[in-house]
Amino acid sequence: MIQIAIDGPSGAGKSTVAKALAAKLGIVYVDTGALYRTIGYYVRSKDVDPHDGEAVAKLLPDIHIELAYENGTQQVILNGVALGDKIRTPEMSMYASAVSAIPAVRAFLLETQRSIARKCSVIMDGRDIGTVILPNADVKIFLVASAECRARRRTDELIAKGMQVSYEEVLSDMQARDRADSTREVAPAVAAADAVTFDNSWMTPDECVEKLEALVLATVQKTGATV
Ligand code: DC
Repeated sequence: MIQIAIDGPSGAGKSTVAKALAAKLGIVYVDTGALYRTIGYYVRSKDVDPHDGEAVAKLLPDIHIELAYENGTQQVILNGVALGDKIRTPEMSMYASAVSAIPAVRAFLLETQRSIARKCSVIMDGRDIGTVILPNADVKIFLVASAECRARRRTDELIAKGMQVSYEEVLSDMQARDRADSTREVAPAVAAADAVTFDNSWMTPDECVEKLEALVLATVQKTGATV
């Protein structure tokens, strides 16, 4: 079995690359940001302040999250209901970032993430996969790109989904979110000491996937891990 961790700031292309790599290697892709987004969604639906740690922690026992896969695409099921793209709005990005700074939320999601990686080979993307969730992952990648590139990609992605957003708005939200995610006290979004930092600002998604696939295969050869 193999564990591949891909961390990095929002919009660095983690999910695109991880999904493609998972399909090539025939392993499961886990988008952990979706779990924080789901908690954010529930907190919003209860009209609770996502920065209020105590109030959010009180809601956790009522939350049951399952992951399902349809043609390789991850679906999150919250208390029996599939959420689809409802968790992908800019508002949910901010809610997810706010709840992700609450220690009780991180503790709540820890086992969900680790138990998937115990069952099968995975490529998991997030912020603390290489540092906290899978500290012994076979391959750790910290994927980065310039803020402008990331905001441009995220804007195009949201517009393609039919949302009305501007580049300036996406850039400023993204910078605020990255600042909060990388400076929070628990599990900040930083590269693990043994991660390879990979800047894909000037690469197409295909080029990036190709290079990362080569990195994974080289590691597999060196360590004897099996896909
Ligand atoms: O990857 P994303 O944009 O879907 O993540 C949404 C938020 O969730 C992000 O702002 C920070 C948080 N997050 C986290 O703290 N740890 C993870 N492993 C994944 C996401």
